[in-house]
Amino acid sequence: MTSRTAKKKPARKATAAKKTSKKKAVKLRAKSPESNHKSQLYASLVVQLLSLLKGEHDFIANAANFSALLFNALPNVNWAGFYFLQGEELVLGPFQGNPACVRIPLGQGVCGVAAQQLETIIVPNVHEFPGHIACDVASNSEIVVPLFDGERLLGVLDLDSPLIGRFDDQDAEGLNELATVFVAHEGRLE
Ligand code: SME
Repeated sequence: MTSRTAKKKPARKATAAKKTSKKKAVKLRAKSPESNHKSQLYASLVVQLLSLLKGEHDFIANAANFSALLFNALPNVNWAGFYFLQGEELVLGPFQGNPACVRIPLGQGVCGVAAQQLETIIVPNVHEFPGHIACDVASNSEIVVPLFDGERLLGVLDLDSPLIGRFDDQDAEGLNELATVFVAHEGRLE
């Protein structure tokens, strides 16, 4: 099963909340402690990433440190790294985790599909994703975030987890923000 999150759709709960009293609606919108923790974690990662990038414009060095930051700071992640677009295929970039497949054609695997469809893909169970490319037998769920220079695709950021259902919309939002900070720092955005 896959879920795709190009843009976050409003949750159903929010619609139901509109119909209830104001007080109840506020209650329904309140974030769970887990969700608050996640948004705080991503906010702190933005600060840490900016600090890592400060004064350094070497793309490979920055991508390497970015992947190390994600790998070490995010719980239950066994692979974090980049694939960059070269022609019609993605080529392995800096990463943390086990050695991985080097080339992924567009449209193949989770990375190739995310790159082709230009959208973030959350895969709760990789064993149910047709054409998933298994680089690490320990991986059970995955999230792939495309990197853009304006409209142009640069590649993807890929994270794997040994947990089923590890990644959700908050991860998609947080990782997209981090990816935007990263690319903007490289001076590839106007
Ligand atoms: N699982 C990915 C391949 C890359 S590894 O997870 C590092 C995919 O299906 O595209």
